[in-house]
Amino acid sequence: MALIQEIDYGTPQRIAETLVTLEIDGKPVTVPRGTSVMRAAVEAGISVPKLCATDNMQAFGSCRLCLVEIEGRRGTPASCTTLAEPGMKVRTQTPRIAKLRRGVMELYISDHPLDCLTCAANGDCELQDMAGAVGLREVRYGYDGANHLKAPKDESNPYFTFEASKCIVCSRCVRACEEVQGTFALTIEGRGFASKVASGPTNFLESECVSCGACVQACPTATLMDKTVIAQGQPEHSVVTTCAYCGVGCSFKAEMQGSEVVRMMPYKDGKANHGHSCVKGRFAWGYTTHKDRILKPMIRAKITDPWREVSWEEAINHAASEFKRIQAKYGRDSIGGITSSRCTNEETFLVQKMIRAGFGNNNVDTCARVCHSPTGYGLKTTFGTSAGTQDFDSVDAADVIMVIGANPTDAHPVFASHMKQRLREGARLIVVDPRRIDLVKSPHVKADYHLPLKPGTNVAIINALAHVVVTEGLVNEPYVRERCDMQAFEQWRKFVAEERNSPEAVEASTGVPAADVRGAARLYATGGNGAIYYGLGVTEHSQGSTMVMGMANLAMATGNLGKNGVGVNPLRGQNNVQGSCDMGSFPHEFPGYRHVSDDSTRKLFEDSWQVGLQNEPGLRISNMLDAACDGTFKGIYIQGEDILQSDPNTKHVTAGLAAMECVVVQDLFLNETASYAHVFFPGSSFLEKDGTFTNAERRLSRVRKAIAPMAGMADWEITQALSNALGYPMNYTHPSEIMDEIARLTPTFTGVSFDKIDQLGSIQWPCNAKAPEGTPVMHVGGFVRGKGRFMITEFIPTDERTTGRFPLILTTGRILTQYNVGAQTARTQNNVWHPEDILEIHALDAENRGIREGDRVSLVSRAGETTLHAHISERMQPGVVYTTFHHGFTGANVVTTEFEDWATGCPEYKVTAVQVSLARKMSEWQEQYLETRKQTTQIQHGQILTGAAGD
Ligand code: SF4
Ligand code: SF4
Ligand code: SF4
Ligand code: FES
Repeated sequence: MALIQEIDYGTPQRIAETLVTLEIDGKPVTVPRGTSVMRAAVEAGISVPKLCATDNMQAFGSCRLCLVEIEGRRGTPASCTTLAEPGMKVRTQTPRIAKLRRGVMELYISDHPLDCLTCAANGDCELQDMAGAVGLREVRYGYDGANHLKAPKDESNPYFTFEASKCIVCSRCVRACEEVQGTFALTIEGRGFASKVASGPTNFLESECVSCGACVQACPTATLMDKTVIAQGQPEHSVVTTCAYCGVGCSFKAEMQGSEVVRMMPYKDGKANHGHSCVKGRFAWGYTTHKDRILKPMIRAKITDPWREVSWEEAINHAASEFKRIQAKYGRDSIGGITSSRCTNEETFLVQKMIRAGFGNNNVDTCARVCHSPTGYGLKTTFGTSAGTQDFDSVDAADVIMVIGANPTDAHPVFASHMKQRLREGARLIVVDPRRIDLVKSPHVKADYHLPLKPGTNVAIINALAHVVVTEGLVNEPYVRERCDMQAFEQWRKFVAEERNSPEAVEASTGVPAADVRGAARLYATGGNGAIYYGLGVTEHSQGSTMVMGMANLAMATGNLGKNGVGVNPLRGQNNVQGSCDMGSFPHEFPGYRHVSDDSTRKLFEDSWQVGLQNEPGLRISNMLDAACDGTFKGIYIQGEDILQSDPNTKHVTAGLAAMECVVVQDLFLNETASYAHVFFPGSSFLEKDGTFTNAERRLSRVRKAIAPMAGMADWEITQALSNALGYPMNYTHPSEIMDEIARLTPTFTGVSFDKIDQLGSIQWPCNAKAPEGTPVMHVGGFVRGKGRFMITEFIPTDERTTGRFPLILTTGRILTQYNVGAQTARTQNNVWHPEDILEIHALDAENRGIREGDRVSLVSRAGETTLHAHISERMQPGVVYTTFHHGFTGANVVTTEFEDWATGCPEYKVTAVQVSLARKMSEWQEQYLETRKQTTQIQHGQILTGAAGD
């Protein structure tokens, strides 16, 4: 494996119908109109020296190193800012240019430390390379004049340094922050010789910087450097893989020295991220080698016993014999398993296969149950496919972007940057969210409409938007007539037109001014291509599925489906939520969303797997826990999930787990659920495995092994061994064989293979004979289900109501630097930014309760109580409080209740009636939590990830 070096074309690619042909150093080259001479030269295989140009940002023309001569033109224009024209004759190397370039370089070098040999960037420094390229041998000016060599170093950011003495003020970092990331955290301060890069009032850590790494990547010198490279040295080889955090699915090069990762560099050819990254994927990978990793299988008879390290063979045989014993005693359906959206498609497929074929029941569920199961239900019902409709690049063609119940800058940062680029180009923005999320107003982005609805009233708002479309004649009638079921449409039209669905009628219940709803509906329906992006603020409600169908109705009525720039797009939380659903992780569906009661599908799987399969859906997670409390469900295999922290009503989850006789946890760490486990299988991180992840765009990307599994076995091998020990034989030798089986058994995947993904880079399903290279945009020319189906979406307020005792509504969500239950990010330096979960509360609610900034407060619902620190926030509306669920000690889900989506059982995390008051000490649950963690996990390093344990 060599170190992958991508070509830098200097300026961005242009797409144009007209081509121009020019001659560079005697070589003819043809490029799209609008292409720079610099890029044309690189395409012709000629490299022009450059410093301020790089191909993911617009040309700037400041360094004057890229000068060329053009026949018939005076002077020496900069090739990065000069556009290629037909018939142009360009010369990139002449004595005159060489002299000019050397002069430029001489000036740079005369104000630069001459420590190349000991500099951390030695060998990966464009300044060094350019000095060589222009043939600079000596600096005539000496180094005694005014210079910046004593400029201070900023090491405040945990992941990168800023060594100002090495800065050549090329502005690439500033432009990366603006153009690529869209944060505008950096500026060039001062003029001429005094000009310098400034990051906020004091340093990087205190600035607006979100640590995406774009500036570090852009810097052509050692000024901005990864601390890991400074500490470990330059990488030697690299492997292209996929980020294991969110559903954007960014591609990275894992750059290595021997078997150690030195840095994760975003991969330019990654179709989801185009070379960009966020702080999690770029920097927060230290958890993979954290000392808390458990690397030996362990067993114990009781959860109060100490863990005993055993061999893989003993652990696997023990788990299998326990499962067999339980089934013999309590019946076939007394055990089940949970797949993970953090695991690969191949691992997930194998777990559900082992459960259906090895356990002999359909008791398999996935964490998607608690996040996007309503997406699957809602989009399948209306369009015929349980997936988002577009690729991310489609946003480039959107004219109106509606973001509903999602906070992309925190939860899907790389796509948020992409979206912000389009917004800065002029697309209009509607935000539907109880909180004033960053997108509502951030540098150079301002929402045209923010509809700050009360949590739990999504369906009322979507019906009101539809009411305006229908009653103001904004329906795209020809589209609906051609594409949709007209009978269902007419029923729906009549329903939404009813006065009770008007913006005025729902103003009081939603809290959103009717005029804003009308304005937003008109903008979405008439503003050109309208694209909806949504998140868990849509799905995690008692009417989550209804809301998904409501958005689908609105998009169909306005013709916003089946082409570029439109669509209904779920922003998936975890990296492989889409994949885990596709792979048959739900108890009622085989891979490819086919019901277990469908005889022909079942026969297909029975023939392939050589075993009889059940035709009745199995138990969902919540049913398994209920049955455990009832004494009929006794054993569970949990791969890569921490249900004790991530599922609602922690007390109920605890009771369920505690009632089981064999809980098997497969994970990197002794997570919260492991406190109740009897067998622990050490899992492997994404760096240790081969497989595929499917992102929010239905894009399958390769996960490639950079290092060997630290505990000796890859996750798929563990499942296979367990299955074999149970008596259901499996004998795959590589995950590619599992994908071949998936392709054989699943019509939407028939064209997928590891070889094809390697060849194409990635593939968006469906990929089959009809679409051999995959499908970026769905429902082109017609819906997958035939005619699009409008559904009646009656608004039914949740049963979770505020009362005198619980007068506030709690809604939960994520924050940029932490991920899900914090198992990974809380074991990285991301804790610098978010060391604990905090409660955001409006100033009025705080004042009424005597709460000041930073006070410890009690958060109590009818389900339970926890404590955390308060942050008085203008982002909240009065009556609504917000927190995250990243830290086990906070236990935000101690407070959430058992209400759930009517169709899929997705918990209603977004609406819990609570009271908030000042607290003097931690809650009883937190005290118990610390005690249990100490007893049951015997943390060897004296550390429990408590977040806010102390005041
Ligand atoms: S790390 Fe990202 S956000 Fe921070 S200054 Fe650099 S480009 Fe801007
Ligand atoms: S920090 Fe790097 S990218 Fe930014 S101006 Fe200085 S040399 Fe250029
Ligand atoms: S946006 Fe998501 S996939 Fe991309 S680097 Fe960040 S966490 Fe990873
Ligand atoms: S690269 Fe063209 S002016 Fe700097």
